[in-house]
Amino acid sequence: MKRLAGMLLCAAVAFGSVAAPAKDAEMESKIDALLQKMTLDEKIGQLNQQTGTGYSDAMVNAVKGGAVGSILNEVDPEIVNKLQKEAVENSRLGIPLVFARDVIHGFKTIFPIPLGQAATWNPALVEQGARIAAEEASSVGIRWTFSPMVDVSRDARWGRIAESFGEDTYLSSVLGVAMIKGYQTDDLSQPGTMAACTKHFACYGAAEAGKDYNTTWIPEVLLREVYLPPFEAAVKAGSATFMCSFNDINGVPSSGNPYLNRTILRDEWGYDGMLVSDWGSIQQMIPHGFCTDLKDAALKGALAGVDMDMESYAYVNHLKELVEEGKVKESVIDEMVRNVLRLKFRLGLFENPYVDMATARNFYTGKALSAAVKTVEEGAVLLKNNGVLPFKQIKKIALVGPMADDKHNQAGTWCFDLEKEHCVTPLQALTEMYGKDAVVYAPGLEYSRDKNEQGIAEAVEAAKNADVVVMVAGEEAVLSGEAHSRADISLPGAQTKMIEELKATGKPLVLVIMTGRPMTIAYEANLADAALYTFHGGTMAGSAIANLLSGKSVPSGKLPVSLPKMVGQEPLYYNHKNTGRPASGMVLIDDIPLEASQTSTGCTSYYLDAGDGPAFPFGYGLSYTTFEYGDVRLSDDSMGKDGKIEAACTVKNTGSVAASETVQLYVRDLVGSLVRPVKELKGFEKIYLQPGESREVKFTLNASDLAFWTSAKEKIVEPGEFDLWISGDSASGTPVKFNVTE
Ligand code: NOJ
Repeated sequence: MKRLAGMLLCAAVAFGSVAAPAKDAEMESKIDALLQKMTLDEKIGQLNQQTGTGYSDAMVNAVKGGAVGSILNEVDPEIVNKLQKEAVENSRLGIPLVFARDVIHGFKTIFPIPLGQAATWNPALVEQGARIAAEEASSVGIRWTFSPMVDVSRDARWGRIAESFGEDTYLSSVLGVAMIKGYQTDDLSQPGTMAACTKHFACYGAAEAGKDYNTTWIPEVLLREVYLPPFEAAVKAGSATFMCSFNDINGVPSSGNPYLNRTILRDEWGYDGMLVSDWGSIQQMIPHGFCTDLKDAALKGALAGVDMDMESYAYVNHLKELVEEGKVKESVIDEMVRNVLRLKFRLGLFENPYVDMATARNFYTGKALSAAVKTVEEGAVLLKNNGVLPFKQIKKIALVGPMADDKHNQAGTWCFDLEKEHCVTPLQALTEMYGKDAVVYAPGLEYSRDKNEQGIAEAVEAAKNADVVVMVAGEEAVLSGEAHSRADISLPGAQTKMIEELKATGKPLVLVIMTGRPMTIAYEANLADAALYTFHGGTMAGSAIANLLSGKSVPSGKLPVSLPKMVGQEPLYYNHKNTGRPASGMVLIDDIPLEASQTSTGCTSYYLDAGDGPAFPFGYGLSYTTFEYGDVRLSDDSMGKDGKIEAACTVKNTGSVAASETVQLYVRDLVGSLVRPVKELKGFEKIYLQPGESREVKFTLNASDLAFWTSAKEKIVEPGEFDLWISGDSASGTPVKFNVTE
């Protein structure tokens, strides 16, 4: 089987290649034996996950009494070992605990937010980041992380887009699998691994209007085509656990949704891992208006197949009663416990329950730090460059902006374990690279939301005396992530004003944007001479940014999300469907004559004020070199419904520096029994070319890659004509045609 990682042919099939752990007969009989010995209370205890309270009397008693299956957020390895000892040596059956934590983009060494990692389009790097996160976190006893989040996210207002791999189903599938592989390796029983938790099942990213936790209404074909494939890929890759989402789907909250959790996850996909609720999500079915009280919530959660209750305490308080009343069969409980025990066996916790204190707290290795630098470098997207980058003979840099020296905020969302002293900011890195006298630091604004314009004058003064101005702008970490949706996704505070004043100095202006989401920055990027979109880059963001600005490294990031011109365009995604009146001949708002007739603007599909399409499209990103794409060549211009064709294109580095380019394969099914998207990503490959070097990039496209769902039951390849592009982003290139025949 072909493996992943950009360098491989046909990423289109690659993500199915990681083997799911097989159910092993010996393990299953050990589980049976344990189940036979367990009381109902002990079984229900395994289904309970609760927050760590240290080595407290209450926790020790609960663990010894077999009332806890998993503890979350305990990160002191000494306490982990002491509690584990209570479970293994002092509880009746000696079943180990599993310790969990949100290790979302690194534990101590913080990597870019997942959206920033997605911008690398490099599965090998994503896998490596997850591997390092697992090595660090497991060295304090965390063997279960709540990651990856593979929610396809098409709305930039949604704060959790930061935790996603962006708007594309295929890219999210490939990178989700890479992350799982990094956490789990091929042998989850080794102590340096963590069980992945693929979340949030399902459709959380479709929250209406981008407001967190909001309702979703998803027709079956959209569910299957857009939202479910990354989860199915995760099942195939052996993700040891899954997590429910908070939202309701078509009226049914995920934590009480048997169609999702049983029919699709278990029956259709054959998943035998463990499903945990989200934090309090079983209890939250009450305010949803789906359950009358906590007991009803426990009943609906269990019947829907949610194995472990995170922080609702519905199962420990009510399941026993529900079994005694005959409302939940004990066989249902046994199945849930079985899934929990299987996780613990797979993690090797029965053989190896303790943290080895001799190797504990294994953080910030040279390998970890340099991988973190490389990931920021490869995920930084150069949106614009009129030649100011990389720096040439710069003697004085005015470094301004609220994010230029902000260790906390460059790390991004979900950094519970951040140690700021290890973070390198752009100020530190540029000073180290160019010398203290060469960098004049005048932030202008104290933080991203700062509206106090008093400091801007000092930044402008610094700009006037410099050869180049670098403004590090963006959003603080807390403005994205869970429960941090925004209805205005522009640069907050007085940042735009500051950019305008810097522009007025006439000095070359470089904008670096550290953020957790796609922002409306077209106006600001237009004012600047260069714009580098780095997302929140984590511990080593500053070093990577200095390398990129100086030319020590070359940007190769590509947008995993469309950047809108205006927030009102959201949800915005490249793979939309065409209308019957696609945009053409647009007359924009300022060009409409007075008293123009209603139909004079052409009656096509666009916004009067935003036109059509994004400011920067999905897949887009510049380099310090240029790449030339040759004609696309197909091995055949038609294939049968079980066939395949090869598509090839020669890509040449036509500039003067060596650099990487992500070559992307898109198709369009021109006519379908259901309307098909205008483009769909079907493969990509990141290549590295020396100046003047050419490489032929080949993709194998199987007819099965063109199949789509026409109902819950039917996924078909329809004969007909297709367009195919090989290009450097979703908006460029010239299509060639092929046919699928009967
Ligand atoms: C709620 C979040 O939705 C989920 O992603 C996270 O893993 C849990 N809380 C645990 O902290």
